Amino acid sequence: MTVRRTIDDSTSKGIEGRSLDRKRVYTSEFNSWALTDSMPSSALIFDTTLRDGEQTPGVALSIDEKLRIAEALSDLGVDVIEAGFPMISTGERDSVKKIASLGLQSRVCALSRSSRKDVDVAIDCGVDYVHTFIATSDAHLRHKLKMTRDEVKSRAIDAIEHAKAHGLTVEFSCEDATRTDLDFLKEMHIAVQQAGADKINVPDTVGVTSPPAMERLITELLSVTKVPLSIHCHDDFGLAVSNSLTAVRSGARQVHVCVNGLGERAGNAALEEVVLGLMAFYNIRTNVDTRKIGHVSKTVANLTGMPIPGNKAIVGGNAFAHESGIHVHGILVDPSTYEAFGPELVGMQREIVVGKHTGIHSVKEKLSEYGVSLTDDHVKKVVEEIKKLAESGKHVDDAELVALAYHVAGQRAGEVRKVKLKEFAVFTGLNITPTAVVTLEVDGENKRGSEIGIGPVDAALNAIRSVVSGKISLVEYRLSAITGGSDALCEVSVKLQHNGEKKAASVGKSVGSDIVQTSVDATVEAIDRLYSRISKE
Ligand code: KIV
Ligand code: ZN
Repeated sequence: MTVRRTIDDSTSKGIEGRSLDRKRVYTSEFNSWALTDSMPSSALIFDTTLRDGEQTPGVALSIDEKLRIAEALSDLGVDVIEAGFPMISTGERDSVKKIASLGLQSRVCALSRSSRKDVDVAIDCGVDYVHTFIATSDAHLRHKLKMTRDEVKSRAIDAIEHAKAHGLTVEFSCEDATRTDLDFLKEMHIAVQQAGADKINVPDTVGVTSPPAMERLITELLSVTKVPLSIHCHDDFGLAVSNSLTAVRSGARQVHVCVNGLGERAGNAALEEVVLGLMAFYNIRTNVDTRKIGHVSKTVANLTGMPIPGNKAIVGGNAFAHESGIHVHGILVDPSTYEAFGPELVGMQREIVVGKHTGIHSVKEKLSEYGVSLTDDHVKKVVEEIKKLAESGKHVDDAELVALAYHVAGQRAGEVRKVKLKEFAVFTGLNITPTAVVTLEVDGENKRGSEIGIGPVDAALNAIRSVVSGKISLVEYRLSAITGGSDALCEVSVKLQHNGEKKAASVGKSVGSDIVQTSVDATVEAIDRLYSRISKE
């Protein structure tokens, strides 16, 4: 049973009172079975991408990169940003200091062990919110800390009292809480709230709890905890999001998350999945502006160098991609048939992909994006060709689809190009801003332009676009190596859009040994197609 449910406007209000257009989610009506009277109506989002997320093996962010992520998170609407763990290095202290001085809308917090020295270092960084922690499980006490339970409790209390005496907001965590003796865990919660902790976080440090156990644990802890409870789940069994949602449903008021599910080992609960899950299943609102999720996710992936898997929920490249003919047909009639919610809700785009399972609806729809219209017989022929190619293991991208369509229909054969590359040069080197100069012949007239860019390819593409029209935007750029070695052949495909309109797109593709030249050739081809199309319309 499916229900078309509207997220009520109040669930989507951001920090500045911004609200989403009414968007639709198509969840199961059976979810109403899980609604309870005691569920909170809202939850706080504590983002730890810059702390636990940076502990992802292989990730190390520069100060500049951290500042960019902090700004993006604040703009997204997270309530708290854990900016780092200042005790670990001077670089970490500098970045926490800088983030704290940005004047962000989110609160900025620093992680601190339960020690006065750590708290003092956090205070020196200018934060007014500290997250103190100490391990409480017997295994950690015995093997790591070599301390007794009483010693651990005194340390936790001392650090909290010290931080409170300096006017800080204090959130406290019993590290490895989910493997801690329940009576001792409760004893810790009672002691730290008496010491002045403002919030108590419950870390499932090694991701070893099942959702029903999480429900019971939060209920047990709520019986002794008067301050708000927070939850911090790791994904070792793939249950971090499920456990986080369960914890909030059971009464926790805050969730620790990382963008794209980054974090130690298998990662932390993914921000995007938690926010959408709370909203879609339990109608629990957050201050996150969901429309910015796609952008923030890409920013974090680029800056951390951790690519987003295609099948990642919500932000993966395939999350709104449809290939099967049956699905595409359904989607084109009503997206609720095969989508849980519209991609616009999370700042993503729907994509129709052609391949082995393609049908005529997909091909027609896809070609219409590029202004190519074929007879039904030609569409059938294109579908047959695509299936043959796909079955031989070849992925057919948009540029190849368009080329195939022209081939089958005999279109553009012998057609004279309207846009030709006449001259091109790019200057780059150490301490030089990459700059490109380009001359294009457009409808017989030479036009020249120059532009700078982040790299030589960016400069070249900017220069070309400056010649033709500021209204042309680059929506996709793909580079792949065909052969190995430093003299490898590369393949570049670009997708352009005119006026930001999905139905005014164009693709170009080229193969060569010089990345910049090949990128230029592919772009000029796409521009030629777009230009021919616009001038016909
Ligand atoms: O996973 C964990 O236990 C942590 C603590 C520092 C809260 O990240
Ligand atoms: Zn953690």
